[in-house]
Amino acid sequence: MADARKPLISGNWKMHHNHFEAIQLVQKLSYELTTEDEDVVDVSVHPPFTDLRSVQTVIESDKIPILVGAQNCHWEDKGAFTGEIAPSMLAKLNCELVIVGHSERRELFGETDEDVNRKVKAVLTHEMTPIMCCGETLDEREAGGATDKVTGQIKQGLAGLKAEQVGGLVIAYEPIWAIGTGVTATPDDAQEMCGHIRTVVADAFGADAAAAVRIQYGGSVKPGNAPELMGQPDIDGALVGGASLDAADFARIIQYRLAV
Ligand code: PGA
Repeated sequence: MADARKPLISGNWKMHHNHFEAIQLVQKLSYELTTEDEDVVDVSVHPPFTDLRSVQTVIESDKIPILVGAQNCHWEDKGAFTGEIAPSMLAKLNCELVIVGHSERRELFGETDEDVNRKVKAVLTHEMTPIMCCGETLDEREAGGATDKVTGQIKQGLAGLKAEQVGGLVIAYEPIWAIGTGVTATPDDAQEMCGHIRTVVADAFGADAAAAVRIQYGGSVKPGNAPELMGQPDIDGALVGGASLDAADFARIIQYRLAV
């Protein structure tokens, strides 16, 4: 099965770039990518909501092999939720992936595991793929509580899903202390937690779901550390923040296999 757990490299742009800058970045990235990249790795970009239509249009009209993704959504289809975006709106823009429960949403905007669970279900209902994030703080790691924290996030975030749904989704392990700090988890630490996540999925949803679910690592992924991280058996991709804002750096991460 050549495509079993095809790696997924995702660029989380966070609150960067207006729609003009977004178009430029996608075009620059398309010049860097080759048809071989397309065969061996899936790539997604997750611009701010206001850029999505422009990014979708350039990707579709220029036939750029990059998936369009969002950074968040609400769980309801419509209603009196000022400032929120419905998953149905994202599906209409041909978004294929939605990041759910990023630590910045949890820490800065108070998202709970229950919210994350509702969002995961809503994204699946609209036939998009959630990238469900999990990860511990530095305090939690130092107190020896990293595994429990992540286990709880996975169990609660995926509660009520069917095994085949879980097999199709993406989980991103992002230790909070590694995000935007330049400090990366060692490949061994990242592998250990990603392997643990796969075990938690196996226990709750069975071996097939665990074998199929893609697990990304995120937190200061750069061209220099991507090859070793991606070489770990339970790491199937990367969720990249800062380095995804530079087309050349992001392309080098996508092409991690070419590093010597
Ligand atoms: P970073 O962000 O690569 O800038 O550390 C990763 C993320 O928050 O998804």
